[in-house]
Amino acid sequence: MERSLSMELVRVTEAAAIASSKWMGRGLKNEADDAATTAMRTVFDTIPMQGVVVIGEGEMDEAPMLYIGEELGTGHGPAVDVAVDPLEGTNIVAAGGWNALAVLAIADRGNLLNAPDMYMEKIAVGPESVGKIDINAPIIDNLRAVAKAKNKDIEDVVATILDRERHQDIIRQIREAGARIKLINDGDVAGAINTAFDKTGVDILFGSGGAPEGVIAAVGLKCLGGELQGKLLPQNDEEAQRCKDMGLDVNQVLMMDDLVKGDDAIFAATGVTDGELLRGVQLKGSFAESHTLVMRAKSGTVRFVEGRHSLKKKPNLVMND
Ligand code: FBP
Repeated sequence: MERSLSMELVRVTEAAAIASSKWMGRGLKNEADDAATTAMRTVFDTIPMQGVVVIGEGEMDEAPMLYIGEELGTGHGPAVDVAVDPLEGTNIVAAGGWNALAVLAIADRGNLLNAPDMYMEKIAVGPESVGKIDINAPIIDNLRAVAKAKNKDIEDVVATILDRERHQDIIRQIREAGARIKLINDGDVAGAINTAFDKTGVDILFGSGGAPEGVIAAVGLKCLGGELQGKLLPQNDEEAQRCKDMGLDVNQVLMMDDLVKGDDAIFAATGVTDGELLRGVQLKGSFAESHTLVMRAKSGTVRFVEGRHSLKKKPNLVMND
């Protein structure tokens, strides 16, 4: 992959974030998602790559754009797999909450797991705790391992987890272990990535969320030297059959190399609403400000890019109602 692709991809997530930020707090999650998807799709056409969507907005018959199998890019340049979540946290934007992102990940063709749209159990940590966690181990063992790796008391370890009924037992176990918790309403890509940044105050992510989000988060953590382990959680016979058809064993622990193969991948995320790591888009009349995290696994480069966009000179960034 060309290294200049990283900076090109920033334009893609910036456009999606700016478009969807307009819908913040307006209670209209589908409109927010559509705006992000349309903007992302439009900018992708200008990116010099031969991309194929492996994680997107759905199957071809369900989604008008960014559907699985759709070709993206100018048709010249590296052949890559593309995973997109134009708006990670549709409910977050609708409610004006925290940590909504426009996010994407790419890797050389064939290197991203084509994760089916179902739940995945996840555990994720930053670099210090790599190799110390085990998704099949008791919660307390993982908390102890992270505490040891980060030279903390278990009481100082902060676990993050989606605030869901299905997580009540994990939450109880974390509390009984004496660790602290940051519950999140939505957005476990941000939850996973945050484990790799000290300033977020989060050490480990537990719980289940979308499998596609698991692959995208794994790319981010690969760039950061962190780790995500996942297990697919089919909820019915149809989903179980889907896994079988795709040659995916539901009992298998999906390690980093299963989620994203090879030594190169790029991750880009622009904040839509404010979060611990990234500020959201600031709309200031004739211009917009954006905050993007872009990273490449091969070089290990992590960049925070602040953008100031003239909405007059780039009217394509302004999405109308
Ligand atoms: P959307 O942007 O598709 O709404 O996803 C938000 C999200 O919170 C993800 O971050 C997470 O993986 C998934 O939903 C969790 O699903 P559920 O809301 O069913 O628990």
